[in-house]
Amino acid sequence: MRIGFIGDLHIDYNTHHDFLTALAQACDQLDLDTIVFCGDTLTGAEKALSFYGRLQDRTQTRVLQIPGNHELYCLSEKNKTSLCLDADEYMDLMLNDEATSLFKNPIVHGQWCIIGGPSWYDYSLHRNYRRMDAMAKHRFLRRNPEYKYLQNTDQNPFINEKITARSLMLMERQLRTIRERAHGKEYKICSAIHMLPLAEMYKSSHVWATTVAFMGSKYYAELYESYGVDLCICAHSHIRRTLMKNGTTYVNVSLGHNFKWKYKTDLLKELLDTIYVLDI
Ligand SMILES: [Fe+2]
Ligand SMILES: [Fe+2]
Repeated sequence: MRIGFIGDLHIDYNTHHDFLTALAQACDQLDLDTIVFCGDTLTGAEKALSFYGRLQDRTQTRVLQIPGNHELYCLSEKNKTSLCLDADEYMDLMLNDEATSLFKNPIVHGQWCIIGGPSWYDYSLHRNYRRMDAMAKHRFLRRNPEYKYLQNTDQNPFINEKITARSLMLMERQLRTIRERAHGKEYKICSAIHMLPLAEMYKSSHVWATTVAFMGSKYYAELYESYGVDLCICAHSHIRRTLMKNGTTYVNVSLGHNFKWKYKTDLLKELLDTIYVLDI
């Protein structure tokens, strides 16, 4: 079985390309049984799910997905210029989609379990955030352009920590279920998330020391370590990078923005260069 992974297509930014045709070709050329999209395919859950449906009509490869942050952003119907706040509903739409949700349809094949689910950021990848006082945290969060998307009505600055905590709870439940099965300890596990589980997957320069806070959570990697996860596929940062730490291989499969591509005018080549294939 051959499973391809790719994230951060950002089709609504990378507008001058025919993604349906190129993806169908890439699935064919790579002989994929399944392709998993790791979030930030399009802005808004409806647009993303409709794209996956149209792609599924064009290819024999099974199309699965996990949500990124951009699938949870949406334009309010009443006021097209402001962002709506029903991210929870968008998350449910993505996770509960029977046809495409990897969360609903984990892959069990041979020795392998491939799972996927929601992920978010809780600032824990930032070196000093935990040590800041309340005022410093408030100032830090106000500087962040993402902050406005997910404030609740009480302007609760802890909303992102809560969303991350829920995603960690769901991930731990999946991992525990696998390990508690008969012969569960023998399974190899691959976990797909949109956000980063390790600061090392991001840029190390001090210039980026603030933005790393919004890239994910170090607690994903802690779960990987305690449950012996073999492979983590992530995206979000738009930095393709592979590294090994404490027995887990981490692979970032972001396609990212067109101006950073290696093959700027050839989407198919760029896709083939980006898609990570797990052959099991
Ligand atoms: Fe992205
Ligand atoms: Fe993202």
